[in-house]
Amino acid sequence: MRKGKFYITTPIYYPSDKLHIGHAYCTVATDAMARYKRLCGYDVMFLTGTDEHGQKIEDKAREAGVTPQQFVDRIVTGPRGVLDLWKLMNISNDRFIRTTDAYHVKSIQRIFRRMYDNGDIYKGKYVGKYCKPCESFWTESQLVDGKCPECGRDVVDAEEEAYFFRLSKYADRVQDLLENTDFLQPRSRVHEMVNNFIKPGLEDLCVSRTSFTWGIPVDFDPGHVVYVWIDALSNYITALGFDNDAYDDYDKYWPADVHFVGKEIVRFHSIIWPAMLMSMGLPLPKKVYGHGWLLLDGGKMSKSVGNVVDPYLLAERYGVDALRFFLLRSFPFGSDGNFSNEALIGTINVDLANDLGNLVSRTTAMVGKYFGGHLPAGSDKWAQPTEADRDLVAMASGLRDRYEAEMEAFQFQNALEEVFKVIQRANKYIDENAPWALAKDMDQNGPRLAHVLYNLLEATRICGTLLTPFMPESMDKLFAQIGADNDARTWDSAAVWGGLSDTAAPVKGENLFPRIDMEKELAELAKLQAPAAPAIELEPQTPEQVDFDTFCKSDFRAVKVKDCQPVKKSEKLLCFTLDDGTGTDRQILSGIAKWYKPQDLVGKTLVAIVNLPPRKMMGLASNGMLISAVHKEKGEEKLNLLMVSDDIPAGAKLC
Ligand code: MSP
Repeated sequence: MRKGKFYITTPIYYPSDKLHIGHAYCTVATDAMARYKRLCGYDVMFLTGTDEHGQKIEDKAREAGVTPQQFVDRIVTGPRGVLDLWKLMNISNDRFIRTTDAYHVKSIQRIFRRMYDNGDIYKGKYVGKYCKPCESFWTESQLVDGKCPECGRDVVDAEEEAYFFRLSKYADRVQDLLENTDFLQPRSRVHEMVNNFIKPGLEDLCVSRTSFTWGIPVDFDPGHVVYVWIDALSNYITALGFDNDAYDDYDKYWPADVHFVGKEIVRFHSIIWPAMLMSMGLPLPKKVYGHGWLLLDGGKMSKSVGNVVDPYLLAERYGVDALRFFLLRSFPFGSDGNFSNEALIGTINVDLANDLGNLVSRTTAMVGKYFGGHLPAGSDKWAQPTEADRDLVAMASGLRDRYEAEMEAFQFQNALEEVFKVIQRANKYIDENAPWALAKDMDQNGPRLAHVLYNLLEATRICGTLLTPFMPESMDKLFAQIGADNDARTWDSAAVWGGLSDTAAPVKGENLFPRIDMEKELAELAKLQAPAAPAIELEPQTPEQVDFDTFCKSDFRAVKVKDCQPVKKSEKLLCFTLDDGTGTDRQILSGIAKWYKPQDLVGKTLVAIVNLPPRKMMGLASNGMLISAVHKEKGEEKLNLLMVSDDIPAGAKLC
């Protein structure tokens, strides 16, 4: 039964770096919601994609020596890129938009022109501050301690001819939308938007740039590229075919039922986006939900801070479903949550291995052991239900409604909590009924035992149906194990006790969620997640300048090694006897014993600075210093003595 349409979106990812688990969080949540709505019977459109323009990408591509298009292609479609990750995470998006797609580019030009033609975009001069990493313009008054109010990084002065969007014109309407409707959720975010952005005075927004080229050109003024947020936000309608012929679903799916977005981009979605739609006379999305961040060590997980967790590593180690489940079970969607390996493994062990996994394996094993894998006819009936029967049946048959209420409010954690209350109740029901004791007298207790096992399978069926949006693959396995067919896993059947056939034939299969040895695994993970030292690390160059005359006073000479010996009681020092061209031997001590054997250096031509004041080391005089090149390789210090051609005579001056 179709219930109507449901259009849900996730923010399109900015492919300047590889994805981390914080990005996966938002997309997994959107996926669970899309799957839940499909289960309910909605015609779902789930959109995700990538937001590929902007100065940061242009800069990164230049650093990498490739074109911006090659740069984003590698991150989006390359190995272990965005598309690969969404496939691995079992993301069921119906559409994927890239803002470099030709149809989107055309639509953006038309959208820009529409707003220009209706007088909402005008040409002016931009003077202000710009945060490169955030691609955001700020006025002086919006800065916090002179830094970007969003990421806390330095901003730069910016002044250029630019187009502006009359955002100020829509301030009252947007404020009304935020304050007097359910448009923005959770409600707590409304206050922040109104007080921080609207009340201080909403200024017109700079919506074109001329200082870089990696963007969509304004077609009637090609020196300008469209501001990346105008380009990005419009994806929600261009991907449906608005102002283009690539798709034809705009009338069917717009307005969006909900945009899920991280809290730092609520401003764009709840102020700029509605104002753009108002300007174009288009319907507004029904809701914007600003979810919290996944934190690591108390800070927002972010590539630039360096505290990111690789979703590939975790999904490949623990299974995609365990990871999906953990993300939505552990943190309230509207608030921040602290990620830790310990919490992840703990959740897998407690909820999945212990509670759910055990329920399934104990129940299916008992049907095998006591009934040869096949419940007898009539096992769904029991004339005198016990208190425990009634309790389990009531909890499980009411579960769907409680779950639905939480899911409709986007409270994934609470919805899962409701499911796990029933799973825990079912496990308790096993202990209350002690099937192993009933099995001692099958003639007397056989029908009761069959009924107890039926009840357990039935409770598992209802829970399994409602867990499907979170763990689709594992629930397929669970359904195969409890012997339920597809009719027994529909939304309607999840609210009705007795959906499973009375003669269900479960099969004990592989362990759905194996228990993990916490201590061993934490140690293993710590090794795998340790940040790899960069291949080559160089000493930063000294910013302080030295004047030319001072520099010229340093006397560098070619010297030939006549003898080289280790210094007694020193692990570091070698003692060199050098021919410096003066006819008198020069002694220099050098801390390079770790890298060279003394005998290998005899006869080499090296470079020394010879006019340093003499120094004593380990009781020996050192008259000068040998010059070496130093760097770090994979965290390890490396040193190479500077050796020059043996054709250079001893004592030749280097200048
Ligand atoms: N390109 C914009 C969105 C444009 S939508 C029209 C963008 N991209 S992003 O790649 O920086 O972020 C994508 C999503 O990932 C955002 O919703 C962001 O909040 C989310 N997250 C990034 N790091 C996150 C965490 N550490 N925790 C939770 N979500 C995080 O913003």
